[in-house]
This record gives sequence, C-alpha cells and structure tokens, in this order.
Amino acid sequence: MAVRIAPSILSADFAALAQAVDAVAPEADMLHVDVMDGHFVPNLTIGPPVVRSLRKHTDLYLDCHLMMTNPGSYLEAFKKAGADGCSVHVEIGGTADLIGQMRDLGLDVGLAVNPDTPYEAYGRWLGDIDLVLLMTVFPGFGGQQFMAEVMPKLERTRAEITRRGLAVAVQVDGGIDVATAPVAAAAGADVFVAGNAIFGTGLDPAAAARRIRVAADAAVAA
Ligand code: DX5
Ligand code: ZN
Repeated sequence: MAVRIAPSILSADFAALAQAVDAVAPEADMLHVDVMDGHFVPNLTIGPPVVRSLRKHTDLYLDCHLMMTNPGSYLEAFKKAGADGCSVHVEIGGTADLIGQMRDLGLDVGLAVNPDTPYEAYGRWLGDIDLVLLMTVFPGFGGQQFMAEVMPKLERTRAEITRRGLAVAVQVDGGIDVATAPVAAAAGADVFVAGNAIFGTGLDPAAAARRIRVAADAAVAA
C-alpha cells in the first residue's frame, strides 16, 4: 500500500498560501483544503474562491474536505473552481444524492466520518466512493490530539475494503504526526492529512511531511 501525504493548508498562513504550497509541494501527494461553514462545525474558513486561486498556482490534486451542513449547494462551485475531489460528511444525511451529484460533476467522491460515528453509518457506501475520510479528531480546528479509539473502526474499514477488493483510499485526518501516522498506517490508513505537524512546527514543511511519510511507510512495511 502506497502512503500518500495530504498537507492541510488550514495550518498555513492564509496570507502566504502560495509560498506554503510551494514549500510543501515536493513532499505532497495532494493538498487538503478544509472548508468549514460555521454550522456543521463552529468555525469558518475558506471556500471556492480560494480553491480557484490555488488551482491557478499549483497542479497538485486538490482534496476538499467539506465540513458543511449543505455541501450540495456548493459542489458545482468547487468543481468549477478546480477541485479534484470532495468529501462530504455522512452525518448530514442525503448521502446517496450527494454521491450522485459528485459523480455527475466528475469529482472524486469522498465520504467523511466523525470519530463517534459508527461503521454501520457509512459501511454500506464503500462500494460507491473513492475515499473514506476517518476523522481522528472532532472536526473544526487544527492542532488537536489524535484519537486512538478510532483505530478499531479503521481496521474494520480496511478489512472490508480488502475483503471486497475495492479501490477505496482510507484517509485519516486530525492529530497526525510522526508518532501517530504509524499507528494509523498499521491500522490500514493510506492517506495521511497533517496540518499542524507540517505547517505549525517551524520546520521546513517538506521536511516535516517527509518525516511523516517515512514513519508511516515503516509501519506499513512492518
Ligand atoms: C480538522 C481538519 C483537519 C485539520 C487537521 O477539522 O479537518 O484537516 O487541518 O489538522 P491537524 O493535523 O493540525 O490536526
Ligand atoms: Zn480535514
């Protein structure tokens, strides 16, 4: 399983996003764009105009995590702005419709799952999506602590994907760093979102991403 790193620009300086993207690009397999609507989560971040600006600046895959109560009204705007894939939360309902809309628009289809949402709430969709995003913190803010209690759900998700021979990526998001990425990798994750550990430590962002990749790779191989 190939480890992929998805730096979250949430922890970058929004007044210097282009430099942040350039700094991390050598070690980024995709860019994770955290969209928060002030309803689904108690925080507000960015939307399609910023995706459009990123699209002009980089060829990196733009992975948009829509922490929104009503993402359906914005999917087309994200697609037009240059998003490659979007993830909607399963907790808001209407999942079949949202998956259909994303497919029709030509977006890669992601389904995001909060830490306390059980497997039964999303397992049935695994055959219809490209990526399942298992939150390892409650969404809303960067810099929170990794929740190891999500690992049994992650293991079950990976086991089911393997059993069914599906090509679904398993993304983890929240508190991922050199210590926690191996834990998630061993449980079956292959895409690692990291914000604070890449943009918030004062280290060179590409070097920080590289360290996470090396740590996760070692756990996959183990
Ligand atoms: C949290 C966001 C995450 C966040 C992760 O609501 O979905 O993508 O940026 O940040 P860290 O890596 O700092 O936990
Ligand atoms: Zn995210």
